[in-house]
This record gives sequence, structure tokens and C-alpha cells, in this order.
Amino acid sequence: MSQFSPLFSRIVGTGSALPPQRITNQDLVDRLAARGVETSDAWIVERTGIRARHFAETGAATSDLAVEAARNALNAAGLAPQDVDLLIVATSTPDMLFPSTACIVQGKLGIVGAPAFDVQAVCAGFVYALTVADAMIRSGSAKTALVIGAEVFSRLLDFDDRATCVLFGDGAGAVVLARSTEPGILATEIHADGRHTHILQAPAQLSGGRVLGHPFVRMDGQAVFRLAVGLLDEAAQSVLAKAGQTCKDIDWLIPHQANLRIMQGTARKLHLSMEKVVVTLDAHGNTSAASIPLAIDVAMRDGRLQKGHTVVLEAVGGGFTWGAALLRI
Ligand code: UT7
Repeated sequence: MSQFSPLFSRIVGTGSALPPQRITNQDLVDRLAARGVETSDAWIVERTGIRARHFAETGAATSDLAVEAARNALNAAGLAPQDVDLLIVATSTPDMLFPSTACIVQGKLGIVGAPAFDVQAVCAGFVYALTVADAMIRSGSAKTALVIGAEVFSRLLDFDDRATCVLFGDGAGAVVLARSTEPGILATEIHADGRHTHILQAPAQLSGGRVLGHPFVRMDGQAVFRLAVGLLDEAAQSVLAKAGQTCKDIDWLIPHQANLRIMQGTARKLHLSMEKVVVTLDAHGNTSAASIPLAIDVAMRDGRLQKGHTVVLEAVGGGFTWGAALLRI
């Protein structure tokens, strides 16, 4: 490649991992009933679209799911771990306070020397990580990046809070992003507004060897819903405009999987039928930073995503964070 060739990044492999333990809504209804907490399959399906989620076994860590997803993505790309020269993990449920989950994943994969770091943007984490990896590849500072979204969000669930504990699940998704002369990532955009930290948080701190505060997810669901609906199509429209494309060019919308009603609202605003929206929420629940790469991998492996397709990714998360990416497969 000449030093004057334009540099782009392109997805060359995808992978994912789900813990074996599948929990249906009814399983959760029974589990909560034993604690005196009332919910129903009908409420969960009607308000969210979720029917099941996976929970990691005790002792399984975010890095375990991340490594499995990464291996699957590397296999799909026909690459070996030592080909990776940048590793980013988006997670809000790291294995430990430090080192980063990315370094733990790096050690387990046997990659030596490549920079490895975590990105913390909650449910928008994968779009953030992809944006950073794309920028580093286009600037010439990396050639082959592993970009992973991985979570064991079940560890942050308060099973006495029915408004949040029915929403989330565990899993991981990974993409291998490689330097290319052909454009793959066409445009990205990330944002944050720290005025809204209080509407979605896990407000705990460590001090003197003790956990202080409330180490569980707390959410003002309606406030998050309202912000999400207002911001998501705006971010999607903006990446389309940056790349000189319109809604008509979209083959697939792969949104963060939080609520079917939010996805339907965004699709409507983008004039897309739900046939063009990849939905895995029913089977995975909300897996936070893992939801988009999990959905990408599902759609890649079942043949929906084809070479040449134009795909919009979009996400919102605690912070408040949000963003979008426009890809050519
Ligand atoms: O991934 C990060 C981004 N997160 C999101 O995008 C989440 C966005 N928000 C949402 O998806 C929705 O706001 C929720 C699914 C969280 C909640 O749906 P909602 O339609 O906004 O319900 P609500 O909070 O207004 O609650 C309606 C009723 C309440 O009862 P009353 O006060 O009307 O009697 C709740 O107590 O539903 C009740 N409720 C439940 N009932 C049965 C709340 N959770 C449950 C439950 N089962 N699990």
C-alpha cells in the first residue's frame, strides 16, 4: 500500500458469546415471586419486547465471554491473535477495578505488546470503541483491531427492583477491524451530556476495602426513554449526512437492544420498515455494550448482512452517552 493511499477501516470478522444459562421471562417471574416481587411475562413483552436473556454462571467473568467472542471473530477473519495490534473492550462490568478487562483478555488470548484498554460509555460503549479504533486505524497507528463489547450485567441487578431486573442480560460480541483501501466504516459520531448522570447509574464507590452506596443499576426508565427517542434518529441522520447518504441507502439498522418501542420509533423516523431492523432483544435482553456487536454477529452469520450492504448502528447509554456509526459491509 502506498503511503499516500487513503486509509479506511473495515470489519473483516465478527464473533459473539452467550453464557449457557438461558432465563425466560417465566423463569424470572417465578424467581421474583419467591422474593415477593410481582411481574409478568405479558408486562415484560408488551413494555420491552424481551422474552429471554442469558445469565453468566457464578465465577464466569466479562473477560471469559469477551475471549470467546474474540476467538470467534478472529476465526471468521482468518486471523491469529498475534495479528492484533489494538484491543479495546467496551464494558461497564469489568472483571476487576484494575487492570482493564482489555488487558485480561489480551493475556488470555496471548497477544503481547499491542495497546489494550477499556472504554466506559455504558450501553453506547461499543459505538465509542468502534469510533476510537476506526480513528486509530485511519491515522495509521493500528492495522488490525479487536473491538469487543462484553458484559455480565446480571451482577448489577437488584432483584427487588422489578423495573430494572427484567431488562438486562449477559453476553459479548466482537469485531475485527482491519486497515483497508476500501471504505468500511463510513462515518461515526459520539456524544455525551453529563447533566443526565442521575437517570441511569450504578452509584457505588469503594473506600477502605468497603463498597459504599448502591452497587446496582438504578434507572429512571421514562427519562431515558424520552432522551433516547429524541437523540437516536438525530445521530443516525448525522452519520448519513457526513457520508453523503440518505435513509433510502440503509440496508440494515442495528440499534442498541434496549426496548422494542424505542427501536420502532427510530425506524419510523428513519422511514425504515421493521424488516430492516436487526432485533435480538427478544432473545438476549439488554446486554449493554455487548448488544450491538452481538446483533451484528447474529445477522452476519444468518446471512442477512451481505457484502456491500449499508448499515447504521446507534446506541444510547448512561452518562448520558450516545452515538451512531455508518458501515459498509
Ligand atoms: O440500555 C440503556 C438504555 N435504557 C433504555 O433505553 C430503557 C428505556 N426505558 C424503558 O425501556 C422503559 O421506560 C421501561 C421498560 C424501563 C419501563 O416501561 P414504561 O412503559 O416506561 O413503564 P413505567 O416505568 O412507566 O411503569 C409503568 C407501570 C408502573 O406501575 P404504575 O405506577 O403504573 O402502577 C410500574 O410500577 O409498570 C410497573 N412496572 C412493572 N410491572 C410489572 C415496572 N416494572 C414492572 C415489571 N412488571 N417488571
